[in-house]
Amino acid sequence: MNPLERSIQLLNDGEVVAIPTETVYGLAACIDRIHALDHIFELKGRPSDNPLIVHVADISDLENITPAYSSPTLQKLAEAFWPGPLTLVVPRLPHIPDRVTAGLDTVAVRMPDHAMALDIIRKTGPLAAPSANISGRPSPTRAEHVRLDFGDAVLIVDGGACKKGIESTVLDISAEGSPAVLRPGSISGKEIEQVLNVPVLAATHAQSPKSPGTRYRHYSPVTPVFLYNDEPPQPGDLVIAPDHISENQQAAYYGYNGDYSLLASELYDRFRQADLESKRRIIVLQPQNTAHPLYEAILNRIEKAAGI
Ligand code: TXA
Ligand code: MG
Repeated sequence: MNPLERSIQLLNDGEVVAIPTETVYGLAACIDRIHALDHIFELKGRPSDNPLIVHVADISDLENITPAYSSPTLQKLAEAFWPGPLTLVVPRLPHIPDRVTAGLDTVAVRMPDHAMALDIIRKTGPLAAPSANISGRPSPTRAEHVRLDFGDAVLIVDGGACKKGIESTVLDISAEGSPAVLRPGSISGKEIEQVLNVPVLAATHAQSPKSPGTRYRHYSPVTPVFLYNDEPPQPGDLVIAPDHISENQQAAYYGYNGDYSLLASELYDRFRQADLESKRRIIVLQPQNTAHPLYEAILNRIEKAAGI
């Protein structure tokens, strides 16, 4: 039996499996398997008030998840951005377990843009999955990252390096009034506004209590992260820089040449590499292109890692 078939069997038997998506790897369970959902929280050390995203393979799966299934906003966004890195917070149907929604009256849903994930979900039904990392650690963008955190405790379906590398945009469309970004991601508020033709509220600290996960310190390597405009490197530092910087024996450099897609896809891997190499500090030099669609999401992840 290949790993894909095995993962489907395990999930249908009520086990937890790590699956690839285009954003980050997820630690998945069938949404009606309460023991498996409990196990996700235990494995991650996840606070129980932090709800999970439900992953679907077809828009029609939503019929069984939300009473807002045919809402024009939901349909327009799904058509424009799915499969892809946009999670929608919508009202939930009563049978969705509290373990998934953390007792909220809403549920978060998205359709991942990864052939293996979609294949699996078609044969298991919708899967609840948080990022497949120990809570507080950087999200895993490669199978080996999941193995670093969980060893052999779960089957890992290896789908290669995640294309996007940072978690999905979380958009709340559950309430009357303007849609609100709860967590910035690769799909920017501007792109969403262009599809909906209505204003979209930006992620702000004032709104963050609505998305319980954004309250916690996140995405942190063990190596301390600093965000600076300029900083003389010291021995043992990793410097993440927008431009190519001539090498200096004192420190290691990662230059992404202003390519924000590249930075997003490799940021967490660099964080984890710095830990493996016992770096002293990770210095991120301030990204400058504030107009770039990925700017807000990347800065958000760096600031969280730096504890800002
Ligand atoms: O890209 C992603 O979104 C990845 C992949 C695996 O899909 N998943 C992910 O899951 O990042 P997680 O659990 O690490 O982050 C989910 C975020 C959390 O901040 C959580 O609080 C929020 O989504 N969330 C989930 N359900 C919610 C709800 N009903 N209302 C508001 N926020 C919700
Ligand atoms: Mg996470």
